[in-house]
Amino acid sequence: MLRKLSVLMWGMAAAVLGGCHASRLASASGEIKNPVMHKNTEESLVPPYVLPDVLLSRTGKKIDNAFDWVHIRRPELLELYKKEMYGYLPPRPATTEYETLSVKEDALNNTAIRKEIKLTFRMNGKKHSFVMLLYIPKNLSAPAPVFVGLNFRGNHTVTPEKDVIMTGKDVDGNFVEKRRSKHINRFHIEETIKRGFASATVSYHDIYPDNKDENSWRKSVYNLFFAGESNEEFHAHASALSAWAWGMSRMLDCLESEKMIDCSNAFVHGLSRLGKAALWAGANDTRFKLVISNESGCCGAALARRDFGETVEIITHYFPHWFVSSFKKYARNEDKLPFDQHCLAALIAPRYLAIGSAQEDLHADPYGEFLSGAHAGAVYKLFGIDTYTVDTPRIVGSHITGAVSYHIRSGVHDQNLDDWMRYWDIAAKIK
Ligand code: GCU
Repeated sequence: MLRKLSVLMWGMAAAVLGGCHASRLASASGEIKNPVMHKNTEESLVPPYVLPDVLLSRTGKKIDNAFDWVHIRRPELLELYKKEMYGYLPPRPATTEYETLSVKEDALNNTAIRKEIKLTFRMNGKKHSFVMLLYIPKNLSAPAPVFVGLNFRGNHTVTPEKDVIMTGKDVDGNFVEKRRSKHINRFHIEETIKRGFASATVSYHDIYPDNKDENSWRKSVYNLFFAGESNEEFHAHASALSAWAWGMSRMLDCLESEKMIDCSNAFVHGLSRLGKAALWAGANDTRFKLVISNESGCCGAALARRDFGETVEIITHYFPHWFVSSFKKYARNEDKLPFDQHCLAALIAPRYLAIGSAQEDLHADPYGEFLSGAHAGAVYKLFGIDTYTVDTPRIVGSHITGAVSYHIRSGVHDQNLDDWMRYWDIAAKIK
């Protein structure tokens, strides 16, 4: 009932709130451009909901210790997420090669060593490659902890340096020079380096082009393995989010061969859809010591059952390729999900999880993001770790610290200096 009260023209709002992707993808498909979809952004209109118990296994067993969490409930949840939502990650290819394309010893005013490394994967007579941009602080006495994250528009967009190779083909298959250095504020690489951290990034399009055309997976890393499948068969078990998560693990594999990088301190991060990918990467790959969800929103950190902001209906309409095809059965049916996103947050335990929200980013449901972190606390407790609770005050501009940390800053959807200040602080404490 209440759901029906707050219907709006979602097609236009998606473009404004989430960047330009939604509108472009929707219109490119030739489908209805502005379908009327329910979206609530009024706190007083959120209907009551009941979350599934993160500690109750499918067989009805109450999980009350860390051993049973690790051996029973965690694998069960991971499998449910693969089957119902994100699909299965690509396997490991038969061969992987790393080719150093460039090394700049005096990068960023002689504060960093810059490398561009081409990762090539071969399987079944096919190959897939992407280029990783890596900055390592100079003159450190020990290997550097590293931030690992994907970028939206190409490696050349996140650095002030003008001689970085263009990556991240757009939907027409072109690199876009005019975006050079346009997303520096999303990575703050110079300050990251000053603080003694390395930073590695790849454009997500180069792992799986972010295009809802059902053929786009054929240009993704999955094509190495499943080229013989029909689109329908493929989308039944795999997704772009799983490819992106996989890509970050392959970046970490490569970083493990870099002497000046300390991979026991690897921190995976991402904004928005890339925050969803970071959470999913962290859930699957326990080498990531800190997982950073920056405004990951719907199907990221935000609770699905809480009817606020983007919904499963909206996200599967605009971005069906992010999920397995059967996930759309949960549209307007979130209560039937066998988990909610506090379970995804709990898959990071007992490692560090940082959740960042922005006050005006209603599309991503900041309060729903906060609540996931709070409810994941039940699992951290099994490891003897106390984390923030639903009663912890959520104050704009302040930082709730701990193994699960949370901050909400003022402003709109972005990953900016205020967010990075929080992440650098945590990273410095735990390294
Ligand atoms: C859209 C989408 C969000 C996503 C965002 C982004 O707004 O609806 O789920 O997080 O794009 O990745 O920028």
